[in-house]
Amino acid sequence: MHNWYWTGPAAVPTLGPMAIVIHDPRELEAMRQAGRVAAQTLAAVTARVRPGVSTAQIDAWVREDTAARGARPSQLGYQGFPAAVCVSRNHVVCHGIPSPTEVLADGDIVNVDVTSELEGFHGDTSVTVAVGVVPPQAQHVLEVARDALEAGIAAVRPGARLGDVGAAIEDFARARGCGTVRDFGGHGIGRRMHMPPHVSHHGPPGQGVRLRPGMTFTIEPMITVGNPAVLVLADGWTAVTADRSPTAQFEHTVAVTPTGCEVLTRPR
Ligand code: MF3
Ligand code: CO
Ligand code: CO
Repeated sequence: MHNWYWTGPAAVPTLGPMAIVIHDPRELEAMRQAGRVAAQTLAAVTARVRPGVSTAQIDAWVREDTAARGARPSQLGYQGFPAAVCVSRNHVVCHGIPSPTEVLADGDIVNVDVTSELEGFHGDTSVTVAVGVVPPQAQHVLEVARDALEAGIAAVRPGARLGDVGAAIEDFARARGCGTVRDFGGHGIGRRMHMPPHVSHHGPPGQGVRLRPGMTFTIEPMITVGNPAVLVLADGWTAVTADRSPTAQFEHTVAVTPTGCEVLTRPR
């Protein structure tokens, strides 16, 4: 199933200082392992989320589970990020810093974003979890974010462009009355957690990087009930919706294959 090959250059030049890496079959197998570990840690940790759990507790679980799988939490210390996982609750768009004083309550939605490094390769995946019964608006934005990610994944195939992926996501969200955050996007991933290309979650279609087999990147739409404008708090990390409306995010790491797309962080 996973033995596919192609010929061509090992990298595609971009306008920036770095090229987009084309991963060979060995590298893709390593990415598959890293993606599986990240997905397994995310599943194990989110299964334990319930009212009364602090976000610092989630961080401790991520550290333990990642180590038990022989991996390292990629986010810990990344550009000074002080934790092993981003935990983003309710109106927090992304990059929430775990805290012992932030305790989950019935009615919260919370994104847990796990990135794991295994044998030199990274896998990056997140889900938003409903804690108990949540308000209809929060449930709606959670479901739209989850399904918008799948709409983006469905647009990934050789010859398509990144603008097609972004347009699929933004169109899906807009049709359901939701906004799409523009200030953050997905990213190339491989031997580094963040690499070119930038993967925006909006169009226009038919523009941007042309997808080729062996490219690996994340898709991670942040969807809002209200206005998609964001602010970053004084801690330099926590991004919130400017109007403090609920927001949700889901993320997968994908590889472009000769026939379409392989999701490297799909739980199984
Ligand atoms: N996992 C995050 C992402 O999806 C990484 C955030 S950078 C950090 O790209 F430093 F906040 F961890
Ligand atoms: Co990411
Ligand atoms: Co992530």
